[in-house]
Amino acid sequence: MYGGDMKAVAVFPATKRIDIIDQPPPKDVQPSEVRLKMLEVGICGTDKEIASFQYGTPPEGSDHLVIGHESLAEIYDLGSGVSKFSKGDLVVSMVRRPCHHPECIPCRLGRQDFCTTGDYIERGIKGIDGFMTGQVIDQEKYLHKVPRELRDVGVLVEPLTIAEKALFQLDAVQRRLPGDFQHQPARSEGSHNALVLGAGPVGLLGCMALAAKGYRTNAFSREAKDSRKAKIVEAIGARYFSAETYKLPQVAEEIGNIDLIYEATGASGLAFDALGYLGINAVFIFTGVPGRKAPVSVDTALLMRNMVLKNQLLLGTVNAGADAYEAAIRSLGTFMKRWPDAVRSVITGRFPIESYHDLLSGKSGGIKNVIRLNADGTN
Ligand code: BGC
Ligand code: ZN
Repeated sequence: MYGGDMKAVAVFPATKRIDIIDQPPPKDVQPSEVRLKMLEVGICGTDKEIASFQYGTPPEGSDHLVIGHESLAEIYDLGSGVSKFSKGDLVVSMVRRPCHHPECIPCRLGRQDFCTTGDYIERGIKGIDGFMTGQVIDQEKYLHKVPRELRDVGVLVEPLTIAEKALFQLDAVQRRLPGDFQHQPARSEGSHNALVLGAGPVGLLGCMALAAKGYRTNAFSREAKDSRKAKIVEAIGARYFSAETYKLPQVAEEIGNIDLIYEATGASGLAFDALGYLGINAVFIFTGVPGRKAPVSVDTALLMRNMVLKNQLLLGTVNAGADAYEAAIRSLGTFMKRWPDAVRSVITGRFPIESYHDLLSGKSGGIKNVIRLNADGTN
């Protein structure tokens, strides 16, 4: 496995090229590092944006970036100082790494998801190579152990961290509300209504996280009411509203007070339309990153009036800290106990590395598509 060259999927932004490259296996592991044998790498909207050269930055001094940030790997080799892991452990690596400015307090505290300088780096996205290759070296401190029984869904941990961080944030900001009226739906199951916009992987995993927390969960998305996405939403006891048959006003009418809108589409027009239906004391959470588009007009007076008269809060959230990774791994275990088939069906395909082109151009369709590595020991 240390021998021959390894394949990797790399983008070359300057020449707008994306290709499989051969690179030598990474050098020896340092005491605090591990060598990972990559098993699976999920593909998301961010990867598609990088592959269309709208996003993504190679490491300094390199003309290319190896992509892939949603990972599942097996530990292959341990540095002499590594104490938390053993050979053969399944792990997920964190995506974002701290900036180097001494004055950036979040980064110095290990909370680079709140980096104040913008000079953080992200594996497979910004300034550091990612995981779409055979082997990777990483530092012990960025790894989170995944139980063996989650082997077939562990690649969903990273996209689930988005929801877990959002829920931590929600919990913190809703402490603003008096007593039992806080967002603690678990105290009285079904007392709070959540609406998830979009039923892609982030939306579906968000639905699961909210339903598991006790929210009466609803999803509003483009796909038909008998689509695979709709079935996953219904399988977890949530309600699916297809945009083919429902418009937002009817959705809002049927839900009642919407205590939380969890946006997972990146479609800003839809998001700001939905904002007009946000309920009293409610929170709107943005997780999508829209591409640059022509401005759309919104009824600012309506939105501002609602925000004031209904004590509303708008919250954006990106990336995730170690606490959200640990929570995501625990939650995935819970989801698998409650809804194993629904969780498994979020993953719609596993492909060899050579399929990268169709997967990144979106031609392959499906929900979460995954590249499988080292399946036959060749990459
Ligand atoms: C990743 C995050 C990352 C964000 C912005 C997302 O796809 O899941 O970890 O911070 O893109 O680059
Ligand atoms: Zn992603």
